[in-house]
Amino acid sequence: MAHPDVVTNDKVIIFDTTLRDGEQSAGAGLTPDEKFRIARQLQKLGVDVIEAGFAASSPGDFEAVQRIAREIKGPIICSLARAVPGDIDAAWEAIKDAERPRIHTFLSTSEIHMAHQMRKGAEDILGMAVDAVTRAKSYCDDVEFSPMDATRTDPEWLYRLVEAVIDAGATTVNIPDTVGYSNPEEFGALIKGVFENVPNIDKATVSVHCHNDLGLAAANSLAAVENGARQVEGCINGLGERAGNASLEEVIMALETRHDHYGVKSNVNTREIGPSSRMVADLFGFAIQPNKAIVGQNAFRHGSGIHQDAYIKERTTFEIMEPDSVGWRGEALVLGKLSGRAGLRSRLKDLGFELSDQDLADLFPVYKELADQKREVTDFDLQSLMSEQHRFSDTDGQYRYESVRVECGDMVTPTATITVRLPDGESRTVTSQGTGPVDAVCKAVDEIVGHACNLTEFAVASVTDGIDAIGEVTIRVEDADGHIYAGRGGDNDIIVASAKAYINAINRMLVLSPARDHIRASE
Ligand code: KIV
Ligand code: ZN
Repeated sequence: MAHPDVVTNDKVIIFDTTLRDGEQSAGAGLTPDEKFRIARQLQKLGVDVIEAGFAASSPGDFEAVQRIAREIKGPIICSLARAVPGDIDAAWEAIKDAERPRIHTFLSTSEIHMAHQMRKGAEDILGMAVDAVTRAKSYCDDVEFSPMDATRTDPEWLYRLVEAVIDAGATTVNIPDTVGYSNPEEFGALIKGVFENVPNIDKATVSVHCHNDLGLAAANSLAAVENGARQVEGCINGLGERAGNASLEEVIMALETRHDHYGVKSNVNTREIGPSSRMVADLFGFAIQPNKAIVGQNAFRHGSGIHQDAYIKERTTFEIMEPDSVGWRGEALVLGKLSGRAGLRSRLKDLGFELSDQDLADLFPVYKELADQKREVTDFDLQSLMSEQHRFSDTDGQYRYESVRVECGDMVTPTATITVRLPDGESRTVTSQGTGPVDAVCKAVDEIVGHACNLTEFAVASVTDGIDAIGEVTIRVEDADGHIYAGRGGDNDIIVASAKAYINAINRMLVLSPARDHIRASE
């Protein structure tokens, strides 16, 4: 008997772990508010399960999981928990108000993990796994168990353990390729082995969770589906520990595009893939490589003349998916300086932003300023404008960029004068010098906030082509304890964008630092 009710033989459950494994990506760190925005977008995307976080890992994570559980209806809301009573209790406390709660508990099972990480023998591990599932089941009907490092676990021992946790009440058993070691042939055979050797396997859904260390995560996940797995875990844009998890958009579109081969589909609204991908890239501060499958800027662009010629004659000569079907945005001109509020509102609605009258009134002058500077305002520009608005939408307790002036060049010492609005509403202006204009800006901001950070990453990307393009700056700063915080800012002037990005990073540091004592899932 399959569980939960979304499972039928021709449906694959999509389990999104962007907010948990994705957030374990080095250099990632979302505020509870940002996590909530992503969860709302995942709900729109139509994923079946949202792993909202790891409730026991920090008060910030607990708060984010709890809010998502209380407010996001439709998908199953899940919290991760180590196989220890405290974690399971915290997970339940955080998700108990969800419409459809799930506890996901995990424990290392490979020889190498049991010996070096857990320092326990197999029988102890089996006992802990059964106890954890039994405890989780006392709270919640829907329990998932993951034997961590399953692909380097002795298969016979794995089958025994899976049977025991299903007997204890696990409704989903997840087989993780934790270190991305497997390949499609081997992984498919392992899943087949689970079906053939675990006598009670019909009482659970078989899930997979593949990491991308060898670039095989999506291929391994699909091989598992071919062998009967009916839940796939992954992250938007392939985020996750180290080289990341399976890219959900790749798995979903492979199932969709090659339905002739796989014979199964997901419940996802594929048109929301593009907006989801852009939001995740923006809030995590991880740019998408241009040639990334499905969501990269070049994914639907045709470069060579021969391809373009054939494409114009017949689209399917060089295109296996319709760009529209994944919510891909071209560079179509949309608005200009004569466009009015109604045009702006309608275009933003198409892009997935529903604005209240007040939001529109606040945004319109900003839009007009941009339209004055740029002849043509594209969807990419609007997306960037909205990200900028969101970054500073809740200014309570935050620093806010007001203005900057720099003097630089090879004949002067780079000097920046910046005005920042303080959390108490007062404005403060400081002038500083640095090794370059960005350094001078950062030093001036440091003086205002009274907190020096180390800039570890600085990248500028242009949102569109052309000399008047908006520049998006991504910055990463490191605090004295070695924690890293990302910040983003956009403007036609990259010094202004840099100042905004640096202030954004500082604001995020202030929100995140008290909650930063993460217990990483893999530790
Ligand atoms: O990679 C892994 O094994 C995990 C587990 C917690 C499922 O993330
Ligand atoms: Zn993982």
